[in-house]
Amino acid sequence: MNIKLVQGDIVNIAADTIVVSMVEGAELTGAAAAVDKACQGLISNVVAQGEFKAKLNETIVLYPQGLQAKKLVVVGLGEAAKLTIEKIRQIAGSAIKTASKGKAGTVATVVHGAGVSSFEVEALAEALAEGTVLALYRYEDLKAKKTESSLSEVLVVEQAGCKQCSIESGIKKGEILAQATNLARTLVNAPGNHMTPTHMAETALRIAQETGLKCTILERADMEVHGMGALLGVAQGSVQPPKLIVLRYEGNPGGETLAIVGKGLTFDSGGISLKPGEGMWLMKDDMAGGAAVLGAMQAIGYLKPKSNVLGIVVASENMPAGGALKPGDVVRAMNGKTIEIISTDAEGRLILADGVAYAVAQGANKVVDVATLTGACGVALGQFYSAIVANDEELVAQIKAAAAISGERFWQMPGDDDYKELITSPVADLKNSGGRMGGVMTGGLFIGEFVGNTPWAHLDIAPTAYTETEKPYQPKGATGVATRTLVALACK
Ligand code: BES
Ligand code: MN
Ligand code: ZN
Repeated sequence: MNIKLVQGDIVNIAADTIVVSMVEGAELTGAAAAVDKACQGLISNVVAQGEFKAKLNETIVLYPQGLQAKKLVVVGLGEAAKLTIEKIRQIAGSAIKTASKGKAGTVATVVHGAGVSSFEVEALAEALAEGTVLALYRYEDLKAKKTESSLSEVLVVEQAGCKQCSIESGIKKGEILAQATNLARTLVNAPGNHMTPTHMAETALRIAQETGLKCTILERADMEVHGMGALLGVAQGSVQPPKLIVLRYEGNPGGETLAIVGKGLTFDSGGISLKPGEGMWLMKDDMAGGAAVLGAMQAIGYLKPKSNVLGIVVASENMPAGGALKPGDVVRAMNGKTIEIISTDAEGRLILADGVAYAVAQGANKVVDVATLTGACGVALGQFYSAIVANDEELVAQIKAAAAISGERFWQMPGDDDYKELITSPVADLKNSGGRMGGVMTGGLFIGEFVGNTPWAHLDIAPTAYTETEKPYQPKGATGVATRTLVALACK
């Protein structure tokens, strides 16, 4: 599917379906009013009948006479005063899902919210494209019979010529961000026997080739040279070779470097501290942090912001083979710290310990790690928020500002030293589990022990990476969460 800007009038555009929007409880204005007039008050009639209230994300399908389009979709914007860019993404998703049902090959739409809000038209166009591409996502790579869709083109119709270039750049950016998120979704939805560390590395190489980023893959032998005993310890129970994947973007030579480090645990069985069987299949999503980093690096590679970004994915399986790490074992991480293994199921913090230490050794001035780290995160926040644990308030403020742009929700957890007492060990420098209480903080702060004094933040996406509830632009399954926030952070 292709999104194209066309200059013209939505009333007489040659398209199979047209989409207009209207505010709840207000008179028809702009494109909706023009379309209404051209088809003998069809829209105002259904509104007068009380069949359509234009509530947020509400849609109605009408069959107009006298227009080129056979089908007309009206989408509700809700109350004008409460409109946000995030709502525009949702509205676009709701509208395209309704518009693309049936036989439409071409859908023409207006830029929702343009006449009734004070948002820049570029931001509105970006949200329109983003919501559209995100909503149409499906994971069907492994199905013989794919859902049929005749939709080939979405035309964004704008009358005024002067607004065109900013609409065009908004559309382009929205497409890049949504495609990056959809890439992350596909990597997460893919089963563990396909999405191995090797496959993640191949994906990174392809991204590098397509966007011009530099890519390096560290193999087991390289990890041994670097003394990455924590990552190697987790990987030793699996026949899949671990990969430490590095993608580099340099858009500001000599400037500071942001590192984004993702947990790429391609299947988490728990290791010797084996997880219960029920629901274990979902642990194929334990590489969602790594997927977000790959998606974000793809978008950064295309958007080319004036900044330097080091994208790192620490990829491994966690399996219970004869040679696997055991509870009570002690490993030594790259930065020299020793770790007592209390649970082999607390493996994410182990591989990230070496991942963030490597980022710092590579010259990162700021480190953000992203991981499906703890079940405790969902207990604390439910499925609506990801958690932040950090050692630097300025970086937290930057992440919150980035999240305000992406529409993703993050909540900062405490980082007091008291929690660190829970992860001290009698035999090593640290232990990898602080027990049930405060699991989000002890898990996060453990990773922070491997960055030295570098400003660092940890994003726990365990409850948000996968969903069983469909939303306007989010189908069931992998969400691609954090991808767009990381891009916004890198582009600030
Ligand atoms: N990958 C899991 C966390 C997880 C749980 C992600 C549920 C998504 C959904 C992680 O490796 C893990 O097993 N964490 C343990 C930590 C504990 C042993 C300290 C947990 O949360 O139980
Ligand atoms: Mn685990
Ligand atoms: Zn895990």
